[in-house]
Amino acid sequence: MYKKDFPIFEHNPWLVFLDNGASCQKPKMVIDWVSDFVSHDYANIHRWLYELSERSEKAYYDSKIAVANLLSCKASEIFYTYNSTYGINIIAGSLVRSKVLQKWDAVLIGIWEHHANVLPWQILAEEYGFEVKFFGIKNDYSIDRDDFVIKYTDNVKVVACSHVSNVTGQIYDVKKVKQQLRDDTFFLVDWSQSVPHFVVDVVDIGCDALVFTGHKMMAYTGIWWVYLKKEWLKKLSPMIAGWWTIEDVSVTGHTLTSGTDKFEAGTPNIIGAVSLLKAIEYVDNIWWMQKIWQHEQEIVKKVLDWFKLLAGKVELIWTFVSENRVGAFSFVLKNQSNFNKIWEIFASHNIAVRCGWHCAYPLHKQLGLGGTCRMSTYIYNDDQDIEKFFEVLSGI
Ligand SMILES: Cc1ncc(COP(=O)(O)O)c(C=O)c1O
Repeated sequence: MYKKDFPIFEHNPWLVFLDNGASCQKPKMVIDWVSDFVSHDYANIHRWLYELSERSEKAYYDSKIAVANLLSCKASEIFYTYNSTYGINIIAGSLVRSKVLQKWDAVLIGIWEHHANVLPWQILAEEYGFEVKFFGIKNDYSIDRDDFVIKYTDNVKVVACSHVSNVTGQIYDVKKVKQQLRDDTFFLVDWSQSVPHFVVDVVDIGCDALVFTGHKMMAYTGIWWVYLKKEWLKKLSPMIAGWWTIEDVSVTGHTLTSGTDKFEAGTPNIIGAVSLLKAIEYVDNIWWMQKIWQHEQEIVKKVLDWFKLLAGKVELIWTFVSENRVGAFSFVLKNQSNFNKIWEIFASHNIAVRCGWHCAYPLHKQLGLGGTCRMSTYIYNDDQDIEKFFEVLSGI
């Protein structure tokens, strides 16, 4: 239904793109709008000396307003950098620098985390002497509340987890996690796999920080946002500083700016921000988000029916139940464990999927899996894509 909006399919007519969990394709409207902006309005921002710069800056801040509307928060609580990985590193580093996280403290993260939400904590932990612990899942893949209670000791200062698993597509009840936390625990949620698929309300969930990466929602690569609750904007020192993060510098010291500017050192990704604005305009906020969700749920049901037919030959990781999930499905084949081979076969049929660990070693290790194949859907995938994928899978 939406495929015609995406030039990639015109230029690659046989392509079945099922690697959307990694990054998704860009609509013509976004490409044209961005090209238009670069052709007519682009200049560096935060200089205000000429009209072009003003136009460019307006587009940059309009982008933040669009993001804020999408998340039901304030534009003044959002700052941009480059991707989710970078974002979590910045938050982790700022928490250490601001002494919110110190020696003997602990960080508690979900076992299903992407490495982007594991390594920043582990690397800093080695240097600063705090501990990183994982809370687990039960056999039905739901959060193991008992394990959480045991691990959530008095020294836990940060809890961080993803809203949606990039391996199973499972939506976790992060609001319930928040309700279990003490007021002084910093709660970070990685929304990389949820924002592209359904409406999320940051205030309702009540997290302190949230990261999201624009390229998974039809914006260009290199633009990513962090929502940071107002009180933390004041408390945290930035990891990276330079132009635009200061009010004053002298030979004896400096004064940092307040608010989100403090976290946006140097020339930002202006073109990326505009691409995000245009991607959100393309989605047309809430009404279209609901349509994306409906479309996805229809596809999810069809995919699960196919997996049910292949049960015994193909093991789907997690469940055949369609509730609480987005269109990401990982699986293993009973008769073929060579993922490179499987990947190659799909590629030879112009089907883009992913095989491996999906940057989630801890989860794969807990499940005793040496890797999985993942197919992940988005707005433009249709019945033909799904049929072609399962035709090839059945053949393997
Ligand atoms: C849950 C999750 N977190 C973080 C990331 C990292 O995103 P990026 O590569 O944009 O930094 C991904 C990427 O797939 C992801 O799925």
